[in-house]
Amino acid sequence: MKIVVTGAAGFIGTRVAGLLRDAGHEVRGFDLRGGEDVTAGDVRDEDAVGRAIDGADAVVHQAAKVGLGVDVRDLPEYVSVNALGTAVLLAAMARRGIARLVLASSMVVYGEGVYDCAEHGRLRPGPRDEKDLAAGRFEPACARCGRALTPGTVDEDVPADPRNAYATSKLAQEHLAAGWARETGGAAVALRYHNVYGPGMPRDTPYSGVAAIFRSALEAGRAPLVFEDGGQRRDFVHVGDVAAANLAALHALESAPPGRLRAYNVASGEPRTIADLADALSAARGGPAPEVTGRYRLGDVRHIVASPDRAASGLGFRARVRFADGMREFAYAPLAG
Ligand code: UD1
Repeated sequence: MKIVVTGAAGFIGTRVAGLLRDAGHEVRGFDLRGGEDVTAGDVRDEDAVGRAIDGADAVVHQAAKVGLGVDVRDLPEYVSVNALGTAVLLAAMARRGIARLVLASSMVVYGEGVYDCAEHGRLRPGPRDEKDLAAGRFEPACARCGRALTPGTVDEDVPADPRNAYATSKLAQEHLAAGWARETGGAAVALRYHNVYGPGMPRDTPYSGVAAIFRSALEAGRAPLVFEDGGQRRDFVHVGDVAAANLAALHALESAPPGRLRAYNVASGEPRTIADLADALSAARGGPAPEVTGRYRLGDVRHIVASPDRAASGLGFRARVRFADGMREFAYAPLAG
């Protein structure tokens, strides 16, 4: 197949483009940063996008402004790059009759994970209260009875609850792509990436995920600073597995029903706490030991743990890299930027 990968010069896009090539596809990249087999351009630029995707059978859309954002002043840029950029791309695909799309989405569309209350059953806690966090009460409690909750596993049918500009713009991408599929008879897969890590991850910036922040701290001889009490849970998925999920999605699209978008969690299925992450990286590098700081960020969710089952049954995708092995490699892997 002739495939265009947007964001092909980025951390994840590089791996995706490489794997698709290895699988025998003809791959062209499109990215702000041009390079070998990568055309330089902005996804919001209709002409540049049109030229890049002309003649393609499918588009794998990884280009995005990522991360949590620094504050609300980031709002316009997230909406512009992620929502408008996707809209421009979809319109260009429709004009050319390109009917297959793989979209890089994110687990951030869920917001807080799902929880069970012994008395009131399954529930989704609302945004966290600063008073609770300041008092060191990090676990969400049942809003009705105040009881402690047991965290559960998020599947793709859990209603979205985006909590920041990035999350909102990723959900907007999914909605735009679903509308495009309905109206054009195209088929789309949205891959909801969990916390991606691995070689080539961008170094520590205000937009970086925690794995890059801890890794950069250790390299500089500083202790990883663990927020809250370190008990918050995430699913760390290796970038090589994320690339494999994109290849699986592309193949699934060949026989996917037209006119719809289907979303899949891309997760390792091996959730870990942030303290586990800090300990694993610190141990692999021989220190310094992590410091649990009790600090917090108001926009952070407590636990977000996914079910990888739909990706297994629908795409034939299961992550292969185990946490312990991936982190041992990541502890010394080169970072980008
Ligand atoms: C992250 C990304 C999000 C992405 C998602 C899935 C960022 C900022 N967030 O969300 O955009 O969609 O993964 O790939 O890129 N923490 C520390 N110490 C630190 C920094 C963070 O303990 O120095 C903690 C945070 O409090 C949080 C956890 O680590 O509990 C994860 O943080 P982070 O990786 O920033 O954000 P996610 O919410 O997981």
